[in-house]
Amino acid sequence: MSDEITQQEQNNFLMVFGGHILFQTLYAAVELELFDKLLECKELSLAQISELLGIQQQPARILLLGLVSTGILKRNEEGLYANTPVAEVFLTSRSPKNLLNYVKLQHHVMYRGMFHFLDSLKAYKNIGLKEIPGDEPTLYQRLGHDPKLKQIFQDAMHELSVHANADLAKNLDLSDVKFLVDVGGGDGTNAIELVRKFPNLNAAVFDLPAVSPIANKKIHESQLSDRISVIPGNCFEDDFPTNADCFLFCHFCTIWSAEKNKTLFNKAYKALPKNGKIIIFNMMQDSAETGPLTAAIGSPYFLSIATGEGMLYTWKEYETWLSESGFSDIKMIRLERDHGAIIGVKES
Ligand SMILES: C[S@@+](CC[C@H](N)C(=O)[O-])C[C@H]1O[C@@H](n2cnc3c(N)ncnc32)[C@H](O)[C@@H]1O
Repeated sequence: MSDEITQQEQNNFLMVFGGHILFQTLYAAVELELFDKLLECKELSLAQISELLGIQQQPARILLLGLVSTGILKRNEEGLYANTPVAEVFLTSRSPKNLLNYVKLQHHVMYRGMFHFLDSLKAYKNIGLKEIPGDEPTLYQRLGHDPKLKQIFQDAMHELSVHANADLAKNLDLSDVKFLVDVGGGDGTNAIELVRKFPNLNAAVFDLPAVSPIANKKIHESQLSDRISVIPGNCFEDDFPTNADCFLFCHFCTIWSAEKNKTLFNKAYKALPKNGKIIIFNMMQDSAETGPLTAAIGSPYFLSIATGEGMLYTWKEYETWLSESGFSDIKMIRLERDHGAIIGVKES
């Protein structure tokens, strides 16, 4: 039986089996800024690394073994350590594609909450949220109690979204849109990117009141306060503005159950004028329901921690829900990093 398993298959299994340990190895290296130090010096010996990180050589060896065996660092025959391209792209602060804040968020939120995944599966509820102080039902509301955690969350979202959103802006034509409402727009990254690209566009960031100061600050710093407003509110409890000709849901529908998404799409449809648009943008699951890995990693977080109900839905599901709400002329745009956009129009 074991003869039938290749080394690669065994390694894949071990990456899952020891995933919690390997993740903490990665997190420690990020906090110790090892990858930046290696970028600066190109190659370092164990003794140099231990001195630069301020830890003894024996624990440094353990840290380095985890990083070399997983292909994050490399070690040459003289025993010198260096970043691999993966480390340079994702783990050095100078790289525009780095995920350093996201690694920190994984440690502070996902890692802790996922301990309760089994209970969350059985209860169909975000039992893992008990790791975060507060008594509100969603992570987003509880973040309001902890300014440090709220900032880590927003920084990580910004990091994850900034390239994806730039990609969206590049591939989207909003030249006929006058006023876009970005539902769950967070710190305003999307709205800023979009109004910069489309000179005739104004926008509003519609997000929970706890997020408004962060969005206001960013919009102000971008000198776009005359074109982007902030609407503090809860999209399920408060009315949608009726002066928008486009609703954008960016990294948002994954948070909620199918029923709640359908409610939001119906609400957007009612608030839009004829020819108004709805745009949904996030990571997508293949309609065949076999991946990608990003969907498999992202989905348990929504069940176990964020809200207890969302996941990364398939292209097909979004298409069906939009047409059930009345939208037509539905277009799908496949983008990098397993992202995609679906656009529907309220036709006259
Ligand atoms: C995953 S973040 C996405 C942020 C942003 N759209 C982006 O693409 O980077 C989800 C956002 O939804 C907001 N949110 C959560 N529940 C909400 C609700 N009921 N009404 C409005 N916004 C909400 C959160 O505060 C958070 O900023």
